[in-house]
Amino acid sequence: MEKYIINGGNKLYGGVKIQTAKNSVLPILAAAVLTDEKVRIKNAPCISDVKNMVRILGSLGCRAAYEGDDIVIDSSAADCHEVPRTLAHELRSSVFLLGPLIARFGRAKIAYPGGCDIGLRPVDLHLNGLKRLGVKIRESNGYILCECPGLRGNEIMLDCPSVGATENIMLAAVRAEGETVIKNAAREPEIEDLQKFLNSMGCKVRGAGSGTIAVQGTAAKLRGGDYQPMADRIEAGTFLIAAAMCGGEIVAEGISGENISSLLHKLRENGCKIHTKNDKIILKRDGPLISVKSIETQPYPGFPTDLQAQMTALCCICRGQSIVTENLFETRFKYVPELCKMGADITVAGRNAFVRGREKFNGATVVACDLRGGAALVLAALAAEGRSEVLDISHTDRGYGMFEYKLRSLGADIVRAAV
Ligand code: EPZ
Repeated sequence: MEKYIINGGNKLYGGVKIQTAKNSVLPILAAAVLTDEKVRIKNAPCISDVKNMVRILGSLGCRAAYEGDDIVIDSSAADCHEVPRTLAHELRSSVFLLGPLIARFGRAKIAYPGGCDIGLRPVDLHLNGLKRLGVKIRESNGYILCECPGLRGNEIMLDCPSVGATENIMLAAVRAEGETVIKNAAREPEIEDLQKFLNSMGCKVRGAGSGTIAVQGTAAKLRGGDYQPMADRIEAGTFLIAAAMCGGEIVAEGISGENISSLLHKLRENGCKIHTKNDKIILKRDGPLISVKSIETQPYPGFPTDLQAQMTALCCICRGQSIVTENLFETRFKYVPELCKMGADITVAGRNAFVRGREKFNGATVVACDLRGGAALVLAALAAEGRSEVLDISHTDRGYGMFEYKLRSLGADIVRAAV
């Protein structure tokens, strides 16, 4: 196990290049199973969720590996429709493979997925959507078993705009006979990126980003090719919140402010000066941090649940009180007791966290329990007075490539060490 040792109190200055989006690369890796031609994903982030997805593709018989900064996938020799429990438990995105495996092999067998422990995370919307395309599904001793000799297009209404269910259905529907219409689809920018990638392969998908996506199935041979996925709006938001908490002035490079406008709106209310120019977001904070009354996570374009923990950490050192409401996941406040060890004053009741702002955090030893909660602890330690240790940073390694290097380049005093 590894940890971060952080001496807090430094302001952050300088530029930080934003990585390619984890939550865009993961479904695109699954989509690569649909073609026998080589796919090159440009500038893929070097993070454990992506490395694990590459390992899963390898277990299916694909040749998949990093080549420099890129990941090259050749699925021509893929011969296995089963994702073993050991790998499926590593990450939630293993479930995205149901669609492409059924599309390619007519069947799929995947153990229930793992991922961050932030809620129940059922997959009923994925399975109901696939059933609407003609897939026969049974579940036995922790495995999901799917059979479908021929996918048929259909209309699917999602009970909630699930990102993963939307993507999984898209990945099966591209090989269904006829048209599939997904209603109440998730509208995240990563869905638009997946649509762009699928269409670059020769698929016919339209409407991503709106609530309704139409997929015209095709039996045609699909192309491979090079693809540069979008930038990681959650990584960018994490660095912007870090600068807001520590003070200073940073430039997030290679990111569109459009994709995190809900965050920028809140940070301006907190007293940050922000402006966006082409693919840069500049944030400056040199005055007091002012609390925002409420933060409510919502599906896109609402405030992103993946920035909830980081924003709660910011609220802890603002003047005033805030209420943070987590509407998407049932237990996404597990990091709160660790923040309280650093002096935060937070009371959690159901989906709400009531935050009373304090002057500062005090350094402490804390333990990360999930990806974004772990990032929130790092940000609190960077802003704290004194020395902190953040343990079990395998959680932050899942989604933040070169995290300590990037933070150090901005002036943070942070090192990685073995426990
Ligand atoms: C994706 O997870 C992201 N992961 C998550 O990011 C993100 O928090 C989430 O979307 C919401 O934006 C990836 O893209 C790899 P959902 P996903 O299905 O697809 C319920 C991170 O930190 N639901 O949109 O699992 C579910 O319980 C990760 O990078 C069902 O009820 O999220 C939740 O309440 C964490 N049945 C809500 O929908 C289903 O079948 C949203 O979940 C599926 C979901």
